[in-house]
Amino acid sequence: MASTVPVITVDGPAASGKGTIAAGVAAALGWHLLDSGALYRLVALAALERGVAVDAAPALAAVAATLDAEFAGDAILLGGRDVAARLRDPDVGAAASRVAVFPGVRQALFERQREFRRAPGLVADGRDMGTVVFPDAPLKVFVTASAEERAARRHKQLIAKGISVTIDSLLRELRERDERDANRAEAPLRPAPGALLIDTTAQAAGQSIAEVLAAWRGATATRSPS
Ligand code: C5P
Repeated sequence: MASTVPVITVDGPAASGKGTIAAGVAAALGWHLLDSGALYRLVALAALERGVAVDAAPALAAVAATLDAEFAGDAILLGGRDVAARLRDPDVGAAASRVAVFPGVRQALFERQREFRRAPGLVADGRDMGTVVFPDAPLKVFVTASAEERAARRHKQLIAKGISVTIDSLLRELRERDERDANRAEAPLRPAPGALLIDTTAQAAGQSIAEVLAAWRGATATRSPS
């Protein structure tokens, strides 16, 4: 059944700034936030911890279907343990994009993602929020940035966490992940028809957030009777 709860979808490649934009828009509107990438990262982490291979499709689908995960403020609990920081590690991100190619994994997470749609509204960030999970969302946003800029941002974040990596290796990893996310058969990364395109290469997060809020106000004004 169609839901009347509004959704703004924010999709885009890794380190494009979509998470920051989605969080800023959700805070400004007082809406719920879904970081769908965290669910794929949770499946990857649970698989890594249980020794399930990242190409064992049926076993991964079972891990996704029985995922004991909970979002509690800034904490993300897996079997009761806060794994929020561990989820951001590069090995978990790479494994997430590997497990995300399997239809059984995506199917297992589909309803779980839709349950986040609660009043007064939801901002959902990921790869297929506008194309597959919330195709009826009244506003869809697609965020991009050059691969070089995204690698530089990731580098800064990791250095701040004391993790030493080269920009070159990050650039290679991002390109591999983009390639896998954009070319998979199931729910490939691409802008939804009619999506608002935002390039954050040379644009601060605040400006992007303001752009989305202005588009949302415009969409609401168009739909409500005057
Ligand atoms: O957004 P984030 O980098 O946390 O996502 C990790 C991985 O999870 C992505 O590279 C992608 O393969 C997968 N993902 C997905 N669909 C989503 C969100 C994330 O396939 N809606």
